[in-house]
Amino acid sequence: MHMNEKITDQGETVYRVAELKAAQYFASLNIQVMDKTYIPALTKDILLWKRNHVHKISWLSFFSRGKKSADSRDYDKYIAWLNDNGKLDDYLDRSISYIYMRDLGKALDDPRTKARIQRVVTDTKNHLVPSDATVRGSRPESISVAGFFRWAQKEGIETTAIWLIEKLKNVATHIPKEMDADQAERKLIKIIVGVVLHVVEDMDENTTSAERTRRLDEAIRIGYSYGLTYPFIDDLLDSKVLTAPEKEQYSSMIRTALLTGGVPELNEWPGMNMEIIQYVHAELTNAFEYIKSLQKPETETTFFEQSYVFFHSQDIDRNKEINNTEYSNEELYIPIIIKSSSSRLIVRSVIGAQADEGFDERTFYYGIYNQLADDFADMFDDMKDGAVTPYTYYLKYRHERSDLINPYELYWTVICHLIHNVYHSDSKTLEVILDRAINGLKRCKARIGTEKYNEIMGIFASGNPEFNQLVQQMVRKADQVDFFDKLLRDQINTDLKNNRKEKEDFQRTVHTVRDQINELLKIPRPDGIPPMKESLIEAANYSLTGDGKRIRPILTWVLGVEVYGLQPAAIEPLLRSLEFMHTASLIFDDLPSQDNASTRRGRPTLHQVHNSATAELTGLYLIQKAIQEQASLKAFNPETVLALMRYSAEKAEDMCMGQVMDLQSKGIPLTLEQLNMMCFYKTGLAFEASLVMPAILAEVQPAEITALKTFAYHAGIAFQIKDDLLDLEGDHQLLGKNTRMDVENNNSTFVSILGPEAARIEMWDHYCHAVEALGAIPRKITFLKHLLDYIISRNR
Ligand code: IPE
Ligand code: IPE
Ligand code: MG
Ligand code: MG
Ligand code: MG
Repeated sequence: MHMNEKITDQGETVYRVAELKAAQYFASLNIQVMDKTYIPALTKDILLWKRNHVHKISWLSFFSRGKKSADSRDYDKYIAWLNDNGKLDDYLDRSISYIYMRDLGKALDDPRTKARIQRVVTDTKNHLVPSDATVRGSRPESISVAGFFRWAQKEGIETTAIWLIEKLKNVATHIPKEMDADQAERKLIKIIVGVVLHVVEDMDENTTSAERTRRLDEAIRIGYSYGLTYPFIDDLLDSKVLTAPEKEQYSSMIRTALLTGGVPELNEWPGMNMEIIQYVHAELTNAFEYIKSLQKPETETTFFEQSYVFFHSQDIDRNKEINNTEYSNEELYIPIIIKSSSSRLIVRSVIGAQADEGFDERTFYYGIYNQLADDFADMFDDMKDGAVTPYTYYLKYRHERSDLINPYELYWTVICHLIHNVYHSDSKTLEVILDRAINGLKRCKARIGTEKYNEIMGIFASGNPEFNQLVQQMVRKADQVDFFDKLLRDQINTDLKNNRKEKEDFQRTVHTVRDQINELLKIPRPDGIPPMKESLIEAANYSLTGDGKRIRPILTWVLGVEVYGLQPAAIEPLLRSLEFMHTASLIFDDLPSQDNASTRRGRPTLHQVHNSATAELTGLYLIQKAIQEQASLKAFNPETVLALMRYSAEKAEDMCMGQVMDLQSKGIPLTLEQLNMMCFYKTGLAFEASLVMPAILAEVQPAEITALKTFAYHAGIAFQIKDDLLDLEGDHQLLGKNTRMDVENNNSTFVSILGPEAARIEMWDHYCHAVEALGAIPRKITFLKHLLDYIISRNR
């Protein structure tokens, strides 16, 4: 108890210092709002700004109609349009300048910053519209997992990238349903990118490549560790997931951690959410320890104090009640000034960057501007949620409380203050801040509709009709005010949403098709057959009806039915034949003469139940059955079926070769090339066959078959590497087969030769190649993209 009080005291002292500074800032803004000095100043600024953004309609524009704008919702088309119309340079320039100002806290009139921005603009442009015509028009992969991994490979931080991909996946699965997993992921990514940007900015051509690798690795881990606090502290406490006593205990743990430098143990928990809290606690503890381990002794205290101030200001802000009629302006704005600035100030102390007076000052003044812009955009959602923001509070109490500051007026005041007092009337700063402000209003108007927008403006802007008229004129007429980060944000949101939906579709399809296939597999036992044959059928059914994943026939079904439009009933024999062949290969593979496995598909292996001879004969029997099935593809042209059978026989031959290679390489240090070859033959070919056979039946162009083969090559090898990893690290219950067999058998696998870490990198490399191969397939087969994700992330 005594300890707790002392801690709380210490926290209060630190917070009071922050409050004092914020109060001074607020007082100075307050005077500017009252005096309305921002109106003449900004009117002059806007009139100047307008020259580059509002164009008189000339008779010439009549001819260029239709070229006037492009749909900014289509990422690729929009970038191409900007480029074709000579607007891309300006677009990137204002976007990147803005990021340097907002996220990196730079002054735009600094010559070094100017040069740096110019370089980034050029690099970004080259990336977006490469001069190489072959890659032109393709989406920059940097916003996909594969693109991220490719970048990581260039920087030599593959292991970190894999670590992050797995962490993010875990976060997404642990976010409670009541919260928005997409938003959590997007925010987290944004924070990580922010930290990486800071670190990249901190390096120059003198940084050695080893140092660069180390610092990027660190930046990603820091970004994740720090970023976690957004979904798992702020958003979790904002949400209704935890009960009041749970929130209280959780908050108190966080305070203790920040004030004592150690995360308290998780003991009793006053509610039903122990499971989620356990995960969050473990993850945040690691994050906390990691960041702490990187702090220099002289900055450690500052870091913890800043974090405490950040947390506490959020807490005060969060606990406001919309029904409380008595908040003063100070009570409304001071916590906001503190939280919005400290969130950005912390980043530099998190990465252990040197103190930078200019940065601290600019960032401190900047925060509330950003917050007021965000809160404006979220006004309606916040009202629905009953959240207190300057806008929602003003909307509710503006009639009774004439003392309340109009937040929209304060917003313009802050803009004026930033341009003229903080950034010394620098022309570039003026340009980008006004671009952003007008863009914000345009976006709002587009989102909520003109009518509602006008209503809102009637409330917030009526005090200064002339100024408002000018602003609204800009909102209607100004162009070239949009930003790349907004485009990216929209694109990422759309991608995340689509991805989630596609993934659900994928899972549903897998589930239903697997059920259908399971119905088809059991070999019937006609009456009156000899008992010997009966026992053979029984043995085959024993292996077939085990708990197999059926990936190969599922792939065939999706490609055949959904992509090529074949009749489901017509390809049933093909589905059976694929699973028969595969099951036969497993029976052989498990024999004492090969891998000597005792469990398969959750049951004792066939030779364990009977004996090797029975298992061998059953395998042969299944292969013959498979051929019979292929020969029963009656709905297709006989020539085509023959081509399919020829192909199938060739591949089966090659698979045997793969198994021979596997068995002959025990204890031999295969090269990467040999490993790839072995895995392609023993495993990849079956994937290839699953895709190529329906394509043969659909009589598609050879070029498409070639593209499918490339995809299957990489997907198949990735599948086998994952199998090797699961053999080492997997759960035998889930897998339904023995683990650690490869060590026992002295097998040469990716894992035994390269070690799990390098094997995982190879797996991801094949993943990327497979994703890239998908791009070359003329049809958009989203199923295959999700199949790849599944291959990589499966645990059985
Ligand atoms: C196992 O294949 C054999 C390998 C190629 C690694 P699966 O993992 O698809 O096995 P089942 O069909 O689900 O049992
Ligand atoms: C087997 O590879 C590949 C086949 C085609 C049978 P593994 O020997 O690693 O497969 P599991 O781990 O036994 O399923
Ligand atoms: Mg084997
Ligand atoms: Mg095996
Ligand atoms: Mg294996």
